[in-house]
Order: sequence, then structure tokens, then C-alpha cells
Amino acid sequence: MDDLRDKYIDLIGKAADESALEDLRVQAVGKKGEISLQMRELGKMSPEERQLMGPKLNALKDEINAALGAKKAALADAALNERLQAEWLDVTLPGRGRRMGSIHPVSQVWEECTAIFADMGFAVAEGPQVETDWYNFDALNIPGHHPARAEMDTFYMHRAEGDERPPHVLRTHTSPVQIRSMEAGGAPTRIICPGRVYRADYDQTHTPMFHQVEGLAIDKDISMANLKWVLEEFFSAYFGRSVKTRFRASHFPFTEPSAEVDIQCQWKDGSVTVGEGDDWLEVLGSGMVHPKVLQAGGIDPNEWQGFAFGMGIDRIAMLKYGIPDLRAFFDSDLRWLRHYGFASLDMPTLHGGLSR
Ligand code: DAH
Repeated sequence: MDDLRDKYIDLIGKAADESALEDLRVQAVGKKGEISLQMRELGKMSPEERQLMGPKLNALKDEINAALGAKKAALADAALNERLQAEWLDVTLPGRGRRMGSIHPVSQVWEECTAIFADMGFAVAEGPQVETDWYNFDALNIPGHHPARAEMDTFYMHRAEGDERPPHVLRTHTSPVQIRSMEAGGAPTRIICPGRVYRADYDQTHTPMFHQVEGLAIDKDISMANLKWVLEEFFSAYFGRSVKTRFRASHFPFTEPSAEVDIQCQWKDGSVTVGEGDDWLEVLGSGMVHPKVLQAGGIDPNEWQGFAFGMGIDRIAMLKYGIPDLRAFFDSDLRWLRHYGFASLDMPTLHGGLSR
């Protein structure tokens, strides 16, 4: 019995892990284990022998079980210690600072425009960037042969050979949203549509994708005077000072009469300041919505009239924040974004004052 005891105590001491320990348990005190077999032998013994051997075997079994239990606990402790060593972490080390991202000037100005026009009762409308040529041109009184189609350097979507449907285009301006919102909401209406537009053009002041905000106000008695007031109100709120506007007679197929609008500015040492001086800077196109355009939108031009305008968001962002090159807007250069970007919580509101 002592041999048995020494053998198992020794083996248990050397067991490397829990599964080795489990094997030993089966081997020693399991149903068919060595000690259990010995216990079965008790039946064959004389009562005296049994009285001697019974308690001894029971004691051995208890000892082995206790040794197994103690070893199991020791193995668990060792495993835990190993983990604690491996996963050790100095929580007092300084953190790795993360820079906050910034809001792109276009997003910021987009929000500023929305806030100012919302205050004047304009809702925000949207339209698709891939547009049918009907919405982008025909409905806006730009027929197929019209030079404006060519002038706009339109991107046409690919058509499979034999597909004779009229082409889709990347919208060249936000004006098609005029038609879509007339169709959807009828008259009266007052909407702006900030959005992306596309033209095949690239230099310091042109990128193939840029942003416009379209405006449309239709009612019974809307005139050019309302247009002028709305735009002056807009520019003064946007630039944070009173800004004079100058309306120049112009031509757009979708308005009659049409005007290009300049804002007062001053050039000094190659940079421009809005709201002072004797120079003028063209910033948008506008006019009274052409009867044919109202008709295309399902609105009776004998009953309703209104104004529309279209303005470059990137352009007025450059003017307000003194950004010289349009192309940098879309380069995703982090240095530029950090310099010209806005804090994410700096949401423009009229009551909070717009960004300066
Ligand atoms: N759609 C014109 C453009 O992209 C801008 C424009 C001019 C919009 C006159 C208008 C408007 O709504 O009335 O050049």
C-alpha cells in the first residue's frame, strides 16, 4: 500500500496540467482504478484482515483525492499567475492622444446656408445626382440643340450598345431639383437644394465635382424685389455684415428675366474682402422662373410665378474663409483639413452666430 501511495503522490506532484491530473485520478481512484480494485479485494478477506485493511485503504483513497485536489488548485494558481504576468498593463502610462476630425468647409457652409434660408422659410429639397437629361435640360427649357448643353461639359452615363433610351447624365447643376420639387409639392413652394454637381472641367477655380445651392420660391405675387431682398438678407447673414448686391441683366434658358448677381467686395494685396470697397464679384445666377419651366413642373404659369437662383457653395466658402484654391477642397490633405476645418460641435445656427 505504501508503494501505491508513493507512486501516486509522486505522479500527482509531477502532473503538468489538468488533463494529466484527470488521467491519474481515473488510474488511481476511478471505478476501475488501482485503489478501487484493491477495495474490491476486501470482500475476499477474513473479517480481521478487512478490519485492518478497510480503514487503511479508505485513508489512502482520501489522501490521493486530497493530493489531486491540492494539485488542481496549484495548477490553476500557476495558470492565473502566468496570465497576470503576460497581461500586465501599466494603466498609469499617458494615453495615446487622438486628434479629433474636423468638419470640411463645404459641409460647414452647406449647414450655414441651410440655417439662413430655413430662417426665411425655405425647406431643404433633394434630387438624384444621376439625372435624366429631361430633368437636367429639357424641363429647364434647354432643348437638345441648345448651346448650354455643350457649354456645361456634361458627363454622360454609358449606355449599352443598342440601348436607345435617352441618356442619363451626372447633373450639371442643382436646377433639376426645381422641377422635381414642383412635381412633388406643387405651389406655393419655397425650397433650397444644396447638393453635388458635375462638369468636365479642372483648374484653380473648377473641379469636376462641386457644390451648388439652388433656391426656388413660387407663389401668387413673388417678384424680383423679393429675390433681391432674400439674397441681400442671405449674404449679410452669411458674411456677418451688410453686403450690397448688384443685379446684372443676363440670360438663362430657365428664367425670364434673368440676372447675374454680384456682391460688393474689395481686392487688396491679392486677397478679397466682401462687404466693402467698389469692386464686384459674381456669385450666382437667378431670375423669374420661366413659364415653360413652371409648366414642366406641373404648375400653371397663369396662376403662379416665382424666382429661382443657383449659387456655388465652394465659391462662397472660398470667399468667406479666404481659401485660395478650389482643388485643395477635394485633395483630402489632412494638413489642409486641420487648417480650414471646423470643430465638430461648431454647428452653425443663426442664434448662435454663424462661424467666422
Ligand atoms: N443652373 C445655373 C448654373 O448652374 C445657375 C442658375 C442660374 C440657377 C439661374 C438658377 C437660376 O436657378 O435662376 O449655372
